[in-house]
Amino acid sequence: MSESKQAHRKDEHLSLGVNVWRQNQRLQVGADFSDIRWLPNTFPEMSVADVNLSTTILNHHFDWPFYIEAMTGGSHLTGRINGQLAQVAKKTNLAMAVGSQSIALKESDAVASFKIARQNNPEGFLIANLGADHPIDNVRNAIDMIDANAIEMHVNVGQELVMAEGDREFYWLENLATIIAKSPVPVIIKEVGFGMSDQAFDIINQLGPAAVNVGGANGTNFAVIERRRNRQPDTFNIDQFGLSTVESLLSAQLVDNQVPLVATGGIQSANDIVTSLMLGASLTSSAGFMLATLMDRGETALIQQIEDWQRALPRLFTLLGAQNVASLQTAQRLYSPTLQNFINQRQSATH
Ligand SMILES: Cc1cc2nc3c(=O)[nH]c(=O)nc-3n(C[C@H](O)[C@H](O)[C@H](O)COP(=O)(O)O)c2cc1C
Repeated sequence: MSESKQAHRKDEHLSLGVNVWRQNQRLQVGADFSDIRWLPNTFPEMSVADVNLSTTILNHHFDWPFYIEAMTGGSHLTGRINGQLAQVAKKTNLAMAVGSQSIALKESDAVASFKIARQNNPEGFLIANLGADHPIDNVRNAIDMIDANAIEMHVNVGQELVMAEGDREFYWLENLATIIAKSPVPVIIKEVGFGMSDQAFDIINQLGPAAVNVGGANGTNFAVIERRRNRQPDTFNIDQFGLSTVESLLSAQLVDNQVPLVATGGIQSANDIVTSLMLGASLTSSAGFMLATLMDRGETALIQQIEDWQRALPRLFTLLGAQNVASLQTAQRLYSPTLQNFINQRQSATH
C-alpha cells in the first residue's frame, strides 16, 4: 500500500535525522556541554547508595531524570520504531514521547503507528505531541489516542520556515493559553532544536504551562534536515541559528523562570544529563542519539546503553557530592570564556 506525502515525510525525517548522528555531522551552535566544568568535591561524605535520582514534574514522580524524546509515528516504518522504543521504555522504566500526531488526526491509517506505543507499554508514562497551532479538540484526540499522561505542544518556527511546504504564519499564544487551561493532562511547551531565549521564558512564565522543554541546538538540527529534504534549491540557510541547550537553560535563570524545565538537544551521555540538571533542568530527554543507537545497533543495544547511563548517574552524583537533583543544582561549576561571555551579554540585556 502506498503511503501519503506526510507519511513519506516522517520516513525522510527518520533517515535524515539518524544520518546526521551517524556521520557525526552535527554542527556546533554556541556553547556546548563541554563549556561547563564540574569542580571536584574532595569530601563527598556520602555513598553511591545514598543517591536519589528521582524527580517530580508533570504531576508525576519519575525514577530516572531522563526519557526518550518525541520522534516519530505516521508510517509503517515509523510505527515499527515507535513499537520498539516503547518496549525499550518499558524495560528501562523510562518515560517516552511519541512524534507529532498531526498526521493521525487527518489519516486514520496512521493511528496504529502511535497506538503501538501504548500497547507495548500499558503502564508507562507516555507523552503525546502536537504543533502549537492545533485546537483543543485535536489536543484531546491526541491524548485519547495513546492514553497520554502529558502532552508536548511543539513550537518550531525555525523548522517551518526552512521547510518548502512549511507554515508561514505564527500566532500561537492565545491558542496555547486555551490549551493550558483546558487540557486534561499537563502541557509542556517544547522547542525542537533551536533553543529559547530569556524573552521566550518571560512569555512562557505568563502562560504557566506544567513545564517547558528548551529544545536547544547542538543535537538534531532541523535546519539541516529540512534543507536536505527540500526538492527546490533554496538559499535560505539557518543551519547555525539558535541557542544551545546549555545557553537556553542559563537564559531561563536570567529571568527568574518559575516553570519547571526539561532539557533536550544534543544530550548523548550521562555526563550531559548531569550538566543539564545542574543548570536547572528537572528532567532531560534525548531523541537523535537514542534513534541512531536503535537503528544501527538494535533494541538490546539501546537497552544496554540506557542501563549504562542508569548505572553511571549515581556515581556522577557522588563525584559531585550531590544526593539528589536539588543538591546537584547548587554544585560548583566553571564556565568557559565563551559561555561566560554569553551570560554577561544576556545579563546586561535583561537588567
Ligand atoms: C527523526 C526525528 C523526528 C522528530 N520529530 C519530532 C516531532 O514530531 N515533534 C517534536 O516535538 N519533536 C520532534 N523531534 C525533535 C526531538 O524531539 C528533539 O527536540 C530534538 O531532536 C533535539 O534532541 P536531540 O538532539 O536529542 O535529537 C524529532 C527528532 C528526530 C530526530
